[in-house]
Amino acid sequence: MLTLAQRVGRAKPSAIMVVAEKAKRLKAEGRDIISFSIGVPNFLPGPHVYEAVRKALDHDSGQYGSNRGSDALLDAFVAHMAQVGMTGYTRKNCAIGIGAKGVLYNLMEVLLDEGDTIAFPTPYWTSYLDIAEIVGAKIQLLPCPAEQNYKLTPAQLDAALALKPKVFLFNNPSNPTGMVYTRDEIAALADVLVKFPDTWIITDDIYNRMVFDGIGYHNFVMIKPELRERVIFMDSCSKTYGMPGWRIGFVAAPEVVANAVVTLNSNHITNLPEITTAAALAALTGPQDVPIAKNAEFQERRDRVIAAMKAIPGVICPKPQGAFYVFPDISCAFGKTHGTMRIDNDVDFCNALLETKGVACVPGVAFGESRAMRISYTCPANQLDDGLRRVQEFFAELK
Ligand SMILES: Cc1ncc(COP(=O)(O)O)c(C=O)c1O
Repeated sequence: MLTLAQRVGRAKPSAIMVVAEKAKRLKAEGRDIISFSIGVPNFLPGPHVYEAVRKALDHDSGQYGSNRGSDALLDAFVAHMAQVGMTGYTRKNCAIGIGAKGVLYNLMEVLLDEGDTIAFPTPYWTSYLDIAEIVGAKIQLLPCPAEQNYKLTPAQLDAALALKPKVFLFNNPSNPTGMVYTRDEIAALADVLVKFPDTWIITDDIYNRMVFDGIGYHNFVMIKPELRERVIFMDSCSKTYGMPGWRIGFVAAPEVVANAVVTLNSNHITNLPEITTAAALAALTGPQDVPIAKNAEFQERRDRVIAAMKAIPGVICPKPQGAFYVFPDISCAFGKTHGTMRIDNDVDFCNALLETKGVACVPGVAFGESRAMRISYTCPANQLDDGLRRVQEFFAELK
């Protein structure tokens, strides 16, 4: 009998894409749909990026490139990290990947044997669970509900690391919650991390430039430099520069980890194309006016979404300080009906909202928190208030 590998049976299509596909279908049928579902920026990179690509085309060698990334790109990444306070890294600590997702896939392959444990807070970005399952890791979830602002506490981390997971995976700012840890909160968690030297720490911080209210971006290694031996930092051009489809991801890590990622690269992706490398280089080193302007816009949009959520009785909505997501706890709607549709959980809620009001949100279960839904507020500007009004209307009509 012909069979597929068991790991494929463990892989699931992304729950986020399932909602996005349904919204797309309804739109194609002529429905007026507002999508709050997909986590992509609503802008393109600046003109200098396209200019760099045109130039690169003129000089394209068409050859294979470095498995680690071109020297120029790695230097640009090192300088880029230093701008947010991640200093002291060299090319030898770094490697490229096909997006941060490709980097994370490699990292899980590099760090986890089948049966090893990876711990991470819930809500989590969907692919954490899916990739961990593909590589056959055991998953230790650390629940961080809305009541604790979706943030991990030092006591929780202490209890979790006492169980000796091989890897602790941390995401700041967070997708799906948009929450950002303050310097004090990072310091308190770092105090715990130093107590457990046998656990690797991955910080997926691809939204590190999308931080509001002057709160700043902080990483464990900035507070406890000795953690540099264990901290693996991930970054990406996808969100900051409006380049999700370009597939440019980075890792900065202890050399032994970076070298292992490079070895895996040499066995599948080989290299980032020259054209993509030119685009990434231009994005990292060129004018930063687009991301800066977008950050201001996202902060203003965040305020509008939060104001709308706070006006709905029963909804608990911690105020995010980064990325472009809001993650309201909508469990006050469970057990109610909208017209003929009964709402028992987040999936029912999001289905009914999409069917009746044409607003697509992602059920929280996709992120391991089934009392919530994710609103991504990167839709066209003229749709945001309309979409929020429809969500409010939907709640008001529940019986
Ligand atoms: C927290 C987080 N990490 C990683 C990724 C993957 O990003 P990339 O497009 O660089 O693969 C995403 C994308 O949504 C994300 O939200």
